[in-house]
This record gives sequence, C-alpha cells and structure tokens, in this order.
Amino acid sequence: MIVLGIESSCDETAAAVVDENNRILSSVIASQVAVHKQYGGVVPELASRMHVEAISRVVTKAVHQAGICLSDIGGVAATRGPGLIGALLVGFCFAKSFAWARGLPLAGVNHLEAHIHSLFLADQELTFPFTALVVSGGHTNIYHVSADNRFSLMGQTRDDAAGEAFDKVSKMLDLGYPGGPVIENLAKTQDPDQIRFPRSLLEKDSCDFSFSGLKSAVARYIHENPVKSQRDKARVAAAFQAAVIDVLCEKLLRAARSISCSQIGISGGVSANQTFVTTLVRRAARKKIQVIAPPISLCGDNAAMVAARGAVMIRDGCLCSLDDDVFSRALL
Ligand code: KG4
Ligand code: ZN
Repeated sequence: MIVLGIESSCDETAAAVVDENNRILSSVIASQVAVHKQYGGVVPELASRMHVEAISRVVTKAVHQAGICLSDIGGVAATRGPGLIGALLVGFCFAKSFAWARGLPLAGVNHLEAHIHSLFLADQELTFPFTALVVSGGHTNIYHVSADNRFSLMGQTRDDAAGEAFDKVSKMLDLGYPGGPVIENLAKTQDPDQIRFPRSLLEKDSCDFSFSGLKSAVARYIHENPVKSQRDKARVAAAFQAAVIDVLCEKLLRAARSISCSQIGISGGVSANQTFVTTLVRRAARKKIQVIAPPISLCGDNAAMVAARGAVMIRDGCLCSLDDDVFSRALL
C-alpha cells in the first residue's frame, strides 16, 4: 500500500510518499531553521504559523514528485506527538481532513517510533530484535525493539537531551543554532584530548543519560578560560563532542550487552554526526555488534519515517478517529 506521511512536530514541514516495500517515492522537507536561527532556537508560535503556510504546498509537491495520482494513496500517516502542540495540530488536522475527504485510513504516529522506523528505510534487511537509540534535540532514549509494535524503553535522559546539549554549548561559544553541525565541523580541526570534560555514566547498570553536568563543566571552563579565537572554540567543541560520543557509545553497548543483542540502530538528528557513527561502528565491531545508521537525509525530522511507521500501524489496524488529539509529551 502507498502511504502519504506528514510531519510537523517541530520546525520542519514535511510530506513523503512511501510504497509497500519501504521505498521512498518522494520526501519533501520545508525547513524553518533560517527563521528560528535569528532567535537562537525554535519559537513555537512562529513554527505553527509557518506550518500553516507551507503544508498544502509541501503535500502537493510530495504527491507530484512521487509521480502518483491521489487515488493511488491507500493510507495517511501523520505525527501525533511528542512535539509542539500548535505545530503538531497543523499536520495532524491536515492529515485528518485528507483522510476523511478521500475515505482513507489514518495513523497517528509517535514521533520517536517514526525515528526508529527510519532504520527500516535505511536497511531493508534489518531484522528484530535490535537496540535502538533516538537521539535528537528533545530526546535521548534507548529501546529494545523486539517486534513491529514492541518498543521497550531501557533508558532515557534525566535532564538535557544530547542534541539540546549541542545547541546550548553552541550558544555558549557563540556559534549559532542549531549547534550540532557547526560543533561537528569545528571539532574536526582539533585534538579532543586537549581538554577533559566529565562523562556521566550514572549507576553501574543504568542505561539512563545525564548531560547537564557536562554542560555546566563546559560553562565553567569557558568562564575560567575565555575563548578568544576560533581555535579556542574548536578545542572546547572537540572535547565536548568527544565526551557526548563516549557516553552515547558506552550506554548503547551496555544496553545491547544486557539483552544479548547483536544489532544497534541509531536515529534522530544527532545520529547525523559522522564522528559519532564512525566511533560507534569501531567500538561495536570489537564486540561483534553491527551498527545501522540512516543516511543523513533521514536522521533529522522527515515524513518518510512517519509514512513507514504509519504503514505498519495501518496494516495492524491501529487507526485514529477524527476525535483523536495530538500530544506534547512522550507516552512511550
Ligand atoms: O531529530 P531532530 O531533527 O529534531 C528533534 O526531534 O529534536 O534533531 C535536532 C537536533 C538538534 O539539537 C541538532 O543540534 C542536532 O539534532 N544535530 C546534531 C547534528 N545535526 C543535528 N548534533 C550533533 N551533530 C550533528 N551533525
Ligand atoms: Zn525528531
């Protein structure tokens, strides 16, 4: 079945068409980042308004680029949460209207499960069970994914998400928003071992995360050692990124080991970080664990992953009615 996916949980208005073999026929993303950049982060009210302006155009473009007719679409999937309520409402209500008007089944997709489903778009051979990380601006969650609808949460952040830490450190270094890509690029120019920031590993068997101590350590370091040049910023960026990557790898390998899992899948905006991917692949290989990472185009928010997750929900009869609402916080 061909599924139309719609995503509007934060600052990307996205629509995509995915077929029954998880092939992406089109994936259109209208990013609002240039506008939010001026304010140093996402402004929810602006995000909602920009979704309203973009949604029809983005969906039309996705259908057109897929080379299909509206009558080829067998189901509609839209992000239901977690995310910004006003932003979610735009995509979800559009999807409700579209599904109602055409008499199609509608799936209300959990954004975190959609990120995990980007792994199936990246690797058609991926099989259960696997350990999955969703690492983004709002979440740092580890799951044991044992079957299509079985996601059990093994660990999560107790304070900041990893992406949030990247964004906050970027702000401290006056590098702008979003922080991840700029910190990654700057970090490539310096040896990460010049400064040692703390790694918070919590209790011995814990798969939880905590990044607020690291963030405070960076703030303290910058206060005591003012960053004067781009080189100074790069040294801090490299050491900070190394600390985040070290903790993400350690916890993922710990989680996989605890459930004797030989596959780890990473997803979400921070998994676009190629230094993270190569470090994890190297460390996992020593334990004979395979790493699955989506291409960069599927790491950040997109609608192809929403369509892929929605296709499974529609197949399993897990549908939404017109009375169902969006939700802001993770229920998973
Ligand atoms: O998944 P996503 O697009 O949106 C959310 O659901 O949050 O993730 C956005 C987050 C931001 O915090 C951004 O700084 C981070 O992903 N990010 C990165 C990289 N690219 C994006 N973090 C580290 N390295 C990157 N290359
Ligand atoms: Zn996301």
